[in-house]
Amino acid sequence: MQKLDRIRLGVNIDHVATVRNARGGSRPDPVRAALLAIAAGADGITAHLREDRRHIRDEDMAALKSGIAKPLNYEMAATAEMLAIASRIRPHACCLVPEKREERTTEGGLDVVGGHNHLRPYIAELKALGIRVSLFIEPDRAPIEMSRDLGADIVELHTGTWCHAVEAGQAEKAEAEFRRLADGAAIAHAAGLEVHAGHGLDFDTAEKLASVPEFVEFNIGHFLMGEAIFVGLAQAIATMRLAMDRGRGLVPAHVNLGPRPKGHA
Ligand code: PXP
Repeated sequence: MQKLDRIRLGVNIDHVATVRNARGGSRPDPVRAALLAIAAGADGITAHLREDRRHIRDEDMAALKSGIAKPLNYEMAATAEMLAIASRIRPHACCLVPEKREERTTEGGLDVVGGHNHLRPYIAELKALGIRVSLFIEPDRAPIEMSRDLGADIVELHTGTWCHAVEAGQAEKAEAEFRRLADGAAIAHAAGLEVHAGHGLDFDTAEKLASVPEFVEFNIGHFLMGEAIFVGLAQAIATMRLAMDRGRGLVPAHVNLGPRPKGHA
């Protein structure tokens, strides 16, 4: 069997800013969290500058870009304002996401099939700036093939529906959603796209998804920040790294993951 490379872990630090903003002021500092995440094994940092600035703010993006040595993945809506900020910040990659003000988090993938005329110039402009372009989409053939046709470098497959079904104990739905993700990853890889995944991943789902060979990067935030409350951010990231490596077959199955949240083996 071909030996697979380890999956890159992008740590999303949005919710460090959520906690900071709950009180105003400057603590906890997202850049400090990013540096700690990198020291603990993150391969890159992801941050979502939302239009309503509910967590990450403009000055955070600039501070992250200048403060970290690893790739910065800037999640953004396809708007003129966000494009202008990306052209100033020059992140390593931009991940275009759908955004609705009333949503709690990014719900569903980008409508690349219905919205291709809107997205095309944004993708072209970002690429012209030398920024890698990722599209956050549902793991289905039509949006994957449209992403390729639009010239995206990467697709990030939305894992939210699968993770939700796993958490809710809906075994049949979870199995079907896992197959959808695995099939989607194969289609995207065959289309020449780099394949990422994200949304709602925890130790168990990240470990299982790591067994799908086409994935090269996971972007994980909320669960890690929640775990950090109990075990610290460095430990949460180290355990996630181990879970992903174990899922990939790079660490023997009998290796224990160490501290796990309640309900986890
Ligand atoms: N990837 C994308 C495109 C996202 O929008 C998010 C959520 O901001 C994530 C990954 C991380 O999701 P979670 O915080 O649920 O791990």
